Amino acid sequence: MDKFVIRGGEPLLGTVRVSGAKNAALPCMAAALLTDQPVTLENIPLVRDIETTRKLLAAMGAEVELGYGRAHHRTTIHAEKVATPEASYELVKTMRASTLVLGPLMARCGRARVSLPGGCAIGQRPIDLHIKGLERLGAKITQDHGYIEATASRLKGAEIVLDKITVTGTEDLLMAATLAEGETILQNAAREPEVADLAALLNKMGAKIEGAGTPTIRVKGVSKLKGAKHRIIPDRIEAGTFLIAGALTGGDLNIAGCEPDHLAAILSKLKETGVKTKVTADCVRVMGDNPLTAADVTTEEYPGFPTDMQAQFMALATQAEGAAVITENIFENRFMHALELVRMGANIKIEGRRAVVRGKSPLSAAAVLASDLRASASLVLAALVADGETIIDRVYHIDRGYEKIEEKLKGVGAQIRRIGNMLP
Ligand code: EPZ
Repeated sequence: MDKFVIRGGEPLLGTVRVSGAKNAALPCMAAALLTDQPVTLENIPLVRDIETTRKLLAAMGAEVELGYGRAHHRTTIHAEKVATPEASYELVKTMRASTLVLGPLMARCGRARVSLPGGCAIGQRPIDLHIKGLERLGAKITQDHGYIEATASRLKGAEIVLDKITVTGTEDLLMAATLAEGETILQNAAREPEVADLAALLNKMGAKIEGAGTPTIRVKGVSKLKGAKHRIIPDRIEAGTFLIAGALTGGDLNIAGCEPDHLAAILSKLKETGVKTKVTADCVRVMGDNPLTAADVTTEEYPGFPTDMQAQFMALATQAEGAAVITENIFENRFMHALELVRMGANIKIEGRRAVVRGKSPLSAAAVLASDLRASASLVLAALVADGETIIDRVYHIDRGYEKIEEKLKGVGAQIRRIGNMLP
């Protein structure tokens, strides 16, 4: 398993370019199952979850071209036939977002056999709302041997009120509704930009969706969808992660190719922490020459402060004067990074869903363990400002959602290198 070796203390200077959003690319790739024509997606990030999705779609019988090069990060998916509408445990256990194929398979094939994802490091992660919504659309769903077996003659539009705001639940049901008979109304829908990006692709494919990005989404079912070409939005969480890297290291960093409108909650919290930023059309400059002061943060669904930025913000809070109260409202176990930050010298007390971070604490290098995607990012950030050489193990977690992060960081002055596991 690869490790990162990071020597802290270098201010990050220059420009990093943001990749396409993983959490928009995944549902958009699944959407290609809804048509027998080719769908081309541009600005796809070179991350492990995309490769996992390629394998998942290919196993179902779709042809998937995935090309990376200077000119393009592009995939063309042609699901002319879906021979086996299944998602195996082997693949789903490595990426729970595989459940995003449920909706498209039900809409296109009228049947699906998808492994239950099981929990993950950050929480139990049920998909009961995905299932309940599909049943409202007329699917018959049973579970056995760890798999969901779903069948439906043709899905029928319905009004679905989601008990909780769920991002992939909204996306799954949105995709299912595009080919259902009649109109579907999704109430209490997720408003994340990634949902709106998926809806933009689906409408290019001939779907009739209104209200994506708001709590109420209306879908008029159509009989068929066609192929389309679509460019994935920039990754707002990668952008936020680099913003914090620039602030933490006292650097002067341009985050290029981002969508500042998607960063409002993050930029406002950084400002409250004393971080200086300058926003232009598709770039945010962060200047870390100000002293940092502690600010409280509570994670909420979009447009609130994103849970996917909580771990990174905690790393920043360790370097801010005062006590920052961080409340995690979305997942029940998303403080694993705190324990590793404490081993590096941070002063953090966990009380249920709240973590109290008292700074400023000088961090010292240590051997630490990544537990999940965003926890890994938090440890990289801490290592960039820690005294000495930090070794982060299990960086495959970070490879799931950050394209070439060590190259991007090295490009702006970080002392970071990747080492393969030195087998004895
Ligand atoms: C998406 O996960 C993202 N993943 C996550 O990003 C992100 O953290 C999360 O949304 C919240 O923003 C992708 O988009 C691929 P949810 P998702 O359904 O859809 C509960 C990352 O780091 N819930 O919005 O799985 C659930 O337990 C990843 O990139 C149910 O109870 O999250 C949680 O408490 C991590 N029943 C809350 O809702 C359900 O059927 C929000 O979860 C579904 C969800």
